Formats: sequence, structure tokens, C-alpha cells
Amino acid sequence: MKQLNDKFGRPIRDLRISVMDKCNFRCPYCMPAEIFGEDYMFLNNKEMLSDDELVRLTELFVQVGVTKLRLTGGEPLLRPNIIDLVRRLAAIPHIEDLAMTTNASHLPKHAAALREAGLHRLTISLDSLDEQVFQSMNGYKSTVAEVLKGIKSAENAGFSPLKINCVVKKNVNDHTIAALARHFRDTPHIVRFIEYMDVGNLNGWVMDDVVSADQMQDILSAEIPLEPIAPNYAGEVARRFRYRDGSGEIGFITSVTKPFCGNCTRARLSAAGEYYTCLFGLRGTDLRAPLRDGASDEEILDIISGVWSRRSDRYSELRTSFTKIPRKGAEMYRLGG
Ligand code: GTP
Ligand code: 5AD
Ligand code: SF4
Ligand code: SF4
Repeated sequence: MKQLNDKFGRPIRDLRISVMDKCNFRCPYCMPAEIFGEDYMFLNNKEMLSDDELVRLTELFVQVGVTKLRLTGGEPLLRPNIIDLVRRLAAIPHIEDLAMTTNASHLPKHAAALREAGLHRLTISLDSLDEQVFQSMNGYKSTVAEVLKGIKSAENAGFSPLKINCVVKKNVNDHTIAALARHFRDTPHIVRFIEYMDVGNLNGWVMDDVVSADQMQDILSAEIPLEPIAPNYAGEVARRFRYRDGSGEIGFITSVTKPFCGNCTRARLSAAGEYYTCLFGLRGTDLRAPLRDGASDEEILDIISGVWSRRSDRYSELRTSFTKIPRKGAEMYRLGG
């Protein structure tokens, strides 16, 4: 397999696939209900890549170095036949890690089948255990009990440890992060507190809404003393900590205050087949048209490699100089988080 590097010498390793743009939640930081109303036009079935197209593209990405896949959305479990798709992706040679990020609402129905189909890991979004706070952060579409039920079914299916993602927004859920940490402290699961990002154009992000990882660490250490631990692998997104008394691990995702672009090996594919080289990419490269126009594997590989070899994205590192310039980037729910 030949090594494909971008302009900064970063190889392509991860492919994050948004398999479904729709979601049944309306988290204001991602899909605000005022914009994503009843009549919002999500992609129709023909516009989305089919399972065959997704599998073919993934196999081509593997040929240039991808070994790690993450399925996201929107909500990936809303995609019809998601279990079959997982089974086919898990069977692709050289895929060492196949994970999914979900809001957990459909896990009771699917967790066992996902495990059996070969999914390796699950990450579950849960922003608070306080009912009012959580509901306000998912657009009043779900309850804490529903997510905890999803987590239970993931555990019962054999997914462990889980990662629990919590986006932290100032004066919204920052007063509830210690309770979330405490809840999962004596479990194998790893809670990751995420700095609220300016991704997309719809969430009205301002720097004042961000709680820095340093501030979160102060809040948590006041109650439960923490110590840093080494990354699992170079370029790991989360900074890892453990409780001094040995009762578990947590992480902070510091894309605003301590960006991690230097090691970013992540490519992204939207449900419609647009290939992005950064979460904040202004435009993607359409892979669906060549797929449907009968392009050969070599032709598609040329597009994938050409785009990656020209890549110079490091948005989070440049953010501070950009914040005053209006950007029109893609929305996170389309991009594979
Ligand atoms: P592991 O494979 O378990 O290490 O996953 P991960 O640490 O990459 O985490 P995950 O995919 O769950 O991402 C967690 C969150 O980190 C996402 O929801 C984003 O908020 C943020 N994130 C992930 N990748 C990137 C990235 O490339 N750039 C930026 N700016 N943020 C990212
Ligand atoms: N900032 C940080 N993380 C976000 N996510 C979505 N929108 C944002 C944002 N504005 C992440 C959360 C969620 C996952 C699906 O996407 O981690 O768990
Ligand atoms: Fe759905 Fe996840 Fe976006 Fe919330 S953050 S609206 S659960 S895709
Ligand atoms: Fe990678 Fe772009 Fe995120 Fe930086 S901002 S870590 S380059 S996806």
C-alpha cells in the first residue's frame, strides 16, 4: 500500500462517514429546530450514496492508507439497512477499527445486531444528566432515561468501554459536568468533555459560549482529583486524564483552545458523497458524480489522492484570525462530526 501524505506530511488514516444527514434530535449547536423544521429538505434516497457506492469508496480509501472508520450522521441508526452496511464495512481487509457515534435513541433496537455485524466501538452523545438541561440541548426530542436505556443495551451487547461525548456550553450545561463525570466514574466508560465549536453557520457560536478544557478541569478537579495520562496513539483528539484514586478515565477535546491539526489524519465523506479534508472545509469534492458516471477505480483513486496531496487545512489553528470573517463552511451533521 502506498503512503499518501498531504502538504504538511500528514497521512490519510481515518475516514469519517456521515451515512445519514437526518437526525431525530434537534441539538441547538448542531441542527437548531428553527432551521430544521418539519418541512426541511434532507437528502432523498437517490441523493444519498447507496451501500454499494459507500463500500466501493471505502475500499478505495483503504488503498491509499485508511485503516480507521467512524460512522456518524446526523443519526447513523436512522439509515435503512445500517446493519448490513456495518457488516460489509467490517469485512473490508485492513480496516482495524470501525466505530459509530450515535445519540443512543435507537440502540435498544440495534445494539446486539451492530455487535454481531462487526462494529468494534460505540460513542454515545450525552450532554447532561439533568433532565431539563439535557432536553434543552437536544431540542426536547429525548430524555435522559432514553439515552441511559441505549447505554444499557450497548453494554448488554458487549460494547465496552463506551465513550460518552458531552459538548459543554457556558451557562447551559457547565454546572452539570461534575455530576456526569461522577455517574460514569466507577464504570469502564470514558466521558469526553468537548469544547463547543464554531462548526457550520447555524449555531450562532460566539467565543463567550466556550468553556475551555482548563476551566472544565478546574471544575472537575475541585471534586475529584485528576492526573494526565499519555495518549493512546499519536494524534489522538482527546487529552486523557484519570482519577487519582484509580476509579476511571475522562478526556477533554480542546479543538478551540488547544487545536490538534498538526496530527490530523481525518478525511470526511458526506452522505451525498462529498469528500472533505477538514471539518471546517469550505467545499467538498464530489465523488458521487464520477461513481455514477462509470469512473474506473483508478480514476476515483486519482481524485482522492490528488485532493489529499494538495491538502493544507489547519482551520482550528488559524481560527483566531478567522473569527471576524464570515465563513460558509459545511454543517457538522453532514460531515461526519
Ligand atoms: P477515537 O477514535 O475514539 O479516538 O475518537 P475521537 O477521539 O476521534 O472522537 P470522536 O470521533 O468521538 O470525536 C469527538 C469530537 O471531537 C467530535 O464530535 C468533534 O466535536 C471533535 N472532533 C473530532 N475530530 C475532529 C477534527 O478533526 N477536528 C476538530 N476540530 N474537531 C474534531
Ligand atoms: N461543537 C462541538 N461538538 C459538536 N458536535 C456537534 N456539534 C458540535 C459543536 N458545535 C459533536 C458532539 C456530538 C457529535 C455528534 O458531534 O460530539 O456528540
Ligand atoms: Fe443529531 Fe448528533 Fe446533531 Fe444532536 S449533535 S442534532 S444528536 S447529529
Ligand atoms: Fe483536522 Fe480541520 Fe479539525 Fe484541524 S480543524 S483537526 S485540520 S479537521
